[in-house]
Amino acid sequence: MTYFRYPCPLCMASRRVHSQDRIKPAPQWWKAPCSHIECSLHQLAPYIGKIKSRIAGDLVERYTKSGDLVVDPFAGAGTIPLEATLRGRRAFAADISPYSRILSLAKLSPPPTLNEALKRTESALLEAESLPTPDLRTIPSWVRQFFHPDTLRETLRFAAVARQPGNEFLMACLLGILHHQRPGFLSYPSSHLVPYLRDKKYPSTQFPEMYTYRELRPRLFAKIHRTYRRFERPSSRGVTFRQSAIEHLKMPKRFNALITSPPYMNALDYGRDNRLRLWFINPDLAELKDADIAKRRKTFIDGITRLADKLEKGLTSRGYGVFVVGEEVHRSFYAHPSEVVISIITQRAPSLILRNIIADDIPDVRRTRRECRGIKTEQFLIFQHS
Ligand SMILES: C[S@@+](CC[C@H](N)C(=O)[O-])C[C@H]1O[C@@H](n2cnc3c(N)ncnc32)[C@H](O)[C@@H]1O
Repeated sequence: MTYFRYPCPLCMASRRVHSQDRIKPAPQWWKAPCSHIECSLHQLAPYIGKIKSRIAGDLVERYTKSGDLVVDPFAGAGTIPLEATLRGRRAFAADISPYSRILSLAKLSPPPTLNEALKRTESALLEAESLPTPDLRTIPSWVRQFFHPDTLRETLRFAAVARQPGNEFLMACLLGILHHQRPGFLSYPSSHLVPYLRDKKYPSTQFPEMYTYRELRPRLFAKIHRTYRRFERPSSRGVTFRQSAIEHLKMPKRFNALITSPPYMNALDYGRDNRLRLWFINPDLAELKDADIAKRRKTFIDGITRLADKLEKGLTSRGYGVFVVGEEVHRSFYAHPSEVVISIITQRAPSLILRNIIADDIPDVRRTRRECRGIKTEQFLIFQHS
């Protein structure tokens, strides 16, 4: 039994469970893997909590039409805006994270052809080679421990060039090969999604080849080739990205749809989990520390409340608002995030009607770790402007 704090707009009873018959299962084909068929831009670099591209694409198809302006204020890896632009929609994307900014801009405005991408990479590598050799004593030890010193020097010089405005695609490619244990990556053996050294599993005494210099150039070119393997060029017409917290975000005055997955209430730690990539994006940024759980829960509720106000004002008549919400069971919560979202939208955006709820299992890799019994399902809350 799961309880919630507000009267449930579906069954109109307080502190009772949803009537499960109102929740429809996700189409079976959503569950099938799609990494072998999706546009390879989706695979530029990993991002925790990223939605599957085939689900994002289906939501865009179902709830918008060609030419529509689709808004995603929690864009993350830019999956929803990319699927929208690939399908002839316009996209307004935003996120608080600088990593999201790099990835979204790289995906939404990549070099138009493989040749162009290779040319830009070659000239950035040349420019990087002309920079002074970095003094590694100025680099924090937690960063140094991931790399062979010569690899790190090369990577730092390239990052200095990739950080220049307009070079987001190059930065995204660099971040995409920054850490992992495979030979195509730059770090010592480490995990891919979240940066942890795997020196216990792969000790240098037994795996000395994993601790040698890793040249940047061939790895970067291989990454570019992989990125253009199933390349589809997104439409650059009407595409915007804003780096902003939801509370300060200036949304377009009118938009045809909102499709978004808000940060799970307690689940993921975007600052900690991306700390190495964030450091390369901007070494001067204080580490992005996520708030404690109680504060995060309040931030989630405040964020959805602000968004509800913007939705009420900006969504066009008959337009859809789609929220993808992870269902989390937490010891100290008695509210499911989806129920919180439904309550807030119902109260703050009375023009929106809840049409449908679709439930889908979350694959193991995307489940959360901390203090949760685990996110087991994701709910797709489909609202429509009356
Ligand atoms: C579940 S993820 C979105 C994933 C995205 N749909 C994708 O496919 O990659 C939630 C996003 O919300 C962002 N976020 C967290 N707090 C935020 C805030 N206060 N304002 C704006 N964005 C925020 C995080 O940086 C994260 O990228």
